[in-house]
Amino acid sequence: MRATQELKEDHVTLRRVRDIAMKSSKLLLENKSIPIEDIEIISVVIEEFIDNFHHGKEESAYFPETKDKNNYAEEVRKFLIEHEFGRRIAKMLRSATTNLRNSERNNQIPERENIDKKEPVARFLRTYAIFIDDHTGKEDRFFDDVEKLEYISPDLDTLLLKHYESCKVKMGGEERISQMIKLIEYLENCEWMKQYRQT
Ligand SMILES: [Fe+2]
Ligand SMILES: [Fe+2]
Repeated sequence: MRATQELKEDHVTLRRVRDIAMKSSKLLLENKSIPIEDIEIISVVIEEFIDNFHHGKEESAYFPETKDKNNYAEEVRKFLIEHEFGRRIAKMLRSATTNLRNSERNNQIPERENIDKKEPVARFLRTYAIFIDDHTGKEDRFFDDVEKLEYISPDLDTLLLKHYESCKVKMGGEERISQMIKLIEYLENCEWMKQYRQT
């Protein structure tokens, strides 16, 4: 069924963001330099693509339609709590990044203090990367189960895809989604990502 497949395919993209977040976290902790704009792009992708679009599809369509089948309610409840956890980390990452930007704007700031501002950004990036890894792994197992037991009828599949469509429109349409994918590609090809690969 396409509704389940689409979420699994999103997870492949989410794991690309996981790798970027993990690598940028390691570089920051080694005090290597990453343009602050690139960290802000990671934040935008997390907020718009992962949180708003992907979690939106799960929360407004897929989970409400599957939670009553096969006693899935408890599992779905845990997924929703994890989404809230992800949202909190994304917010903390955003504010730590703003603090780092403000500190970099002030050239007088001692190097030590700048490192202190990088550390929380690195920590939240790492926490978010671990969250993606853990959460998508659990959901993939859930999706496999739903597929195996054939809980989604062709009619429900069509309905879910319609819901997804309205989630897409809400976040800015096909154009915004493809911009998100381009931003992920941009990050993957940044010099600092290549630099890390060599070390
Ligand atoms: Fe999820
Ligand atoms: Fe998911």
